[in-house]
Amino acid sequence: MKTEISLSLHPSRWLALGALIAFAAGIGGVAYVSYQEQDDRFCVSCHTQPEMEYLARNLRADERQAAEDLASFHHRKKQVRCIDCHVGEGFLGRATVLSLAAWDAFKHHAGIARQPAAIVFPVQNEACIKCHAQDVQKPGFENHEHNKYSDPKESPPFIRCTDCHVTHRPGDERTAFQFRDAIFPKCEYCHVTMGRGPRGLAK
Ligand code: HEC
Ligand code: HEC
Ligand code: HEC
Ligand code: HEC
Ligand code: HEC
Repeated sequence: MKTEISLSLHPSRWLALGALIAFAAGIGGVAYVSYQEQDDRFCVSCHTQPEMEYLARNLRADERQAAEDLASFHHRKKQVRCIDCHVGEGFLGRATVLSLAAWDAFKHHAGIARQPAAIVFPVQNEACIKCHAQDVQKPGFENHEHNKYSDPKESPPFIRCTDCHVTHRPGDERTAFQFRDAIFPKCEYCHVTMGRGPRGLAK
């Protein structure tokens, strides 16, 4: 009678089993992190400044019914969370964010993390467009800085939404957190690149 049969797997089978377990743990890890990151407080459990200030702005925005920056404006209006903008869009975007997050968690626990955190993977335009498709496609010249991108006859240069819409900089809710120093150079950049539209706006 052979009893040790169940343990005498061929090495390649062990390898396959190992890969399966690692894969399952990976899925479990992703599922666990994906669950945790729904909560804004989770982000601040590692991050110190300025992110604690970002969270504090959300709380003050609720209290005062007025927001200090575009991010907390989002929280105030529709409870938009940190992760809604920072999740990573598409398969590649999400995979990049998850890999960075794993590396960041390691850095945090190894005590080699920098604060404030430096942006490695900027918030993608798709992160904004998933909620604002109608706003950016609205026809008419008044919206040309947005709708040139959905016009098949045009090929404007790539500009980040967040180059113009700086998200964590304190500003005025009544002006929708528009900053001349951020916006005008980008208007100008597009005019220069496309060879149409006025120059000299940035001055
Ligand atoms: C396990 C600890 C930990 C948690 C939880 C965490 N972070 Fe981080 N995060 C870090 C560290 C460490 C860095 C890198 C700091 C450095 O530059 O060394 C970082 C970097 C970042 C960056 C800049 C790098 C990049 O991706 O471009 C952003 C944005 C960020 N985190 C957002 C978040 C958000 C949003 C959450 C909540 C959903 C969150 N973090 C949760 C530890 C954490
Ligand atoms: C409306 C989208 C949006 C929301 C909501 C948002 N962020 Fe950001 N975040 C950005 C963008 C865009 C940047 C890139 C820098 C910029 O434009 O200010 C950024 C930058 C960061 C950075 C990099 C360091 C820095 O200050 O530039 C961290 C860390 C971060 N956010 C954490 C958070 C946390 C924590 C929350 C929730 C309390 C949050 N974010 C909510 C869009 C958002
Ligand atoms: C989860 C959905 C969601 C995401 C993601 C999101 N937004 Fe918003 N955004 C909203 C909502 C909801 C409002 C508030 C609309 C209202 O009630 O006036 C808003 C308002 C705005 C406003 C108008 C501010 C004002 O005063 O009228 C701007 C500008 C804006 N978002 C830009 C962005 C940018 C840039 C990004 C990407 C970094 C982004 N949003 C990501 C849902 C979102
Ligand atoms: C060249 C600078 C620039 C870029 C790039 C830009 N915006 Fe804007 N955005 C503006 C300005 C200026 C306004 C205010 C327009 C107004 O009040 O008529 C605005 C207004 C908005 C609003 C408020 C609602 C509205 O239609 O007035 C939303 C939402 C918005 N932008 C989203 C986005 C998204 C999403 C992207 C990226 C796809 C983006 N923006 C890229 C300059 C820009
Ligand atoms: C995506 C590229 C792009 C961006 C971003 C952009 N523009 Fe333009 N703009 C154009 C083009 C192209 C024209 C030429 C007229 C046309 O084709 O619609 C133009 C024309 C104009 C004109 C002249 C209109 C006329 O009657 O000739 C003004 C004023 C203007 N833009 C202001 C702005 C401002 C202010 C911003 C920033 C908020 C901005 N533009 C952002 C591409 C852009």
